Amino acid sequence: MSEDKKTVNLDEHADKVDLKKRRTLTAATAVMGAIGSAYVAVPFLSSWLPSAKAKAAGAPVEADFSKLEEGQLMRVKWRGKPVWLVRRTDAMVATLEPLNDQLRDPDSDQSEQPSYCKNTARAIKPEVFVALGVCTHLGCSPSFRPEIAPADLGANWKGGFFCPCHGSRFDLAGRVFKGVPAPLNLVIPPHKFLSDTVVLIGEDGGAA
Ligand code: FES
Repeated sequence: MSEDKKTVNLDEHADKVDLKKRRTLTAATAVMGAIGSAYVAVPFLSSWLPSAKAKAAGAPVEADFSKLEEGQLMRVKWRGKPVWLVRRTDAMVATLEPLNDQLRDPDSDQSEQPSYCKNTARAIKPEVFVALGVCTHLGCSPSFRPEIAPADLGANWKGGFFCPCHGSRFDLAGRVFKGVPAPLNLVIPPHKFLSDTVVLIGEDGGAA
């Protein structure tokens, strides 16, 4: 056999081996691809179908505040966020109006609340305040500070909410003071009264 012939045969063999390898690799890739898409398809499918838990997480929440004393705050969770309910005294409500000049958005024109809460008290009934307990600056949860003129908040403090993260201040209707980092008043979620002492948070409706 000539050297040339030998070379040709060796090349043919190499081609056959290459082709076989390629087919095997292609088949293996196709199988892996199918397995991969099967695994990938499962989380997508489950995210398309909201679970009962996910549905419940967005559902309205009932808050019974019959045991809440005047001047106190209680917390409930709605959509994974803290919602406050404060039973305001007449004296607390009386602090609101005179603060208007010190506030960034006293009439809540820029802020988020249902239309039935776009008033000075930001409430359906002035004595019951419902708000998201989430600072409008970077999302910390402010502290309830109902005391008048405590040493750390100064002589002009009439009660309200103080965010310790960067010092934002809100009055007892969640309205933000000028000169603090929070840009907007606290958000008021949709809510309605089911009775004098039960509020449904997460559904519009107003008074019972
Ligand atoms: S998060 Fe409240 S002041 Fe920054």
